[in-house]
Amino acid sequence: MTSFSSSRDFALQLDSEDKLASFRNQFLIHDPNLIYFDGNSLGMMPKAAQDASRQIVDEQWGVDLIRGWNKGWWEAPSRVGDKIGQLIGAASGQTLVSDTVSVNLFKLVTAALTYQPNKTRTITDTFNFPSDLYILQGINAVLSPSPSGRGARGEGNYEIIRIGASDNDITPDLAALETAINENTALVTLSHVVFKSGYMYDMQRITDLAHKKGALVLWDLSHSVGSVPVHLDDCNADLAIGCTYKYLNGGPGAPAFLYVNKKIQEKLSSPIWGWWGQKNPFDFDLDYTPAPGAQRFLAGTQPMISLLTMEAALEPTLHAGMDALREKSMMMTDYASFLTENWLVPFGFSLGSPVDSAMRGSHISIRHAEGYRINRALIEEMNVIPDFRAPDNLRLGFAPLYISFAEIWEGFNRIRRVMEEKRYEKYPMQKLAVT
Ligand SMILES: Cc1ncc(COP(=O)(O)O)c(C=O)c1O
Repeated sequence: MTSFSSSRDFALQLDSEDKLASFRNQFLIHDPNLIYFDGNSLGMMPKAAQDASRQIVDEQWGVDLIRGWNKGWWEAPSRVGDKIGQLIGAASGQTLVSDTVSVNLFKLVTAALTYQPNKTRTITDTFNFPSDLYILQGINAVLSPSPSGRGARGEGNYEIIRIGASDNDITPDLAALETAINENTALVTLSHVVFKSGYMYDMQRITDLAHKKGALVLWDLSHSVGSVPVHLDDCNADLAIGCTYKYLNGGPGAPAFLYVNKKIQEKLSSPIWGWWGQKNPFDFDLDYTPAPGAQRFLAGTQPMISLLTMEAALEPTLHAGMDALREKSMMMTDYASFLTENWLVPFGFSLGSPVDSAMRGSHISIRHAEGYRINRALIEEMNVIPDFRAPDNLRLGFAPLYISFAEIWEGFNRIRRVMEEKRYEKYPMQKLAVT
């Protein structure tokens, strides 16, 4: 491991050795003084996306009008899905861009549970993104038999097991996870990189454990795609979902993606039988026949302007390659952990992420009882943008395409100033709507 120094010159030295440094020029840098540590929530805008969005609006929508559907719009979900597939180890024909992460989760979980109706257990963890847990609860309400006899399953109690932490909310309890996966388990669904602590699961190991008991596995890759290499096919993963507005820089609300492994595509049925998932949509049959392959998991018309803008936004990531991105990302989170230890622990911070960079994604959480007010002071006075995740996590994302080591140094320097000068004290405890 590199031995770090807290001098600014050392950060500049790391930048001079950074093979990805030039990628920053491919992004719109509106304010060079802004330290943007939130690319794990909303990526910065690639210039390619800005150019593409203008062309899409002016020429494709403006001029082509409906002719656009036969000029590449119709195929866009699978074409762009295959590009994302290159980043997550998925051969073509398995990844589709569609809808939101939440909606894709609903479709794939429902398909997985109805595929093995005798099995009543779904396993997840308390580290998962809350929307994922809500979707599971909602599916439970739809599928479980009600007193009136409605509900598709018709037997047993449908149960959701939530595995807890093995420590202070940094690492999931892997022993408990292993024990919980039994013959009655239909599905194990986890975030590959978890949203608060950044802990990263061993995808191969968990997938194998689930398969041994006959369960399917679904990975939420929202914090993984574009930040860590993922090998869905090699791991024999069954299902995955993820977003494109974080490390893929696709823009706010850009459509999400879903992955269905070829080996189970024909066995699964989408719970939303829309015309985009029908075998021959332009026959306008009055009855539904699923399209072959993953296509059946499309439902309706996709948001072309943001989908095509996101396609252009993928260029820098595809060009840089996941191995180079991961190498820089690990160096960045190691460096940030080092600065936390040296500069911030004396002010009462602690690292809220795994110590070993091989066990985490491209963000770290640093914890402090005053985390929320510190976050406010950083955004409003110091031109530093992290985010806050309750109860005490100041989350710092390091997007390897456009963050420099000198910015990490400067960002931590400003956090240190907020602490030295107690600037957070003037902010109310009352939280804003978005933290
Ligand atoms: C890990 C994870 N899963 C799911 C979601 C929900 O995504 P969406 O709002 O696009 O449905 C998010 C949103 O940030 C997320 O971080």
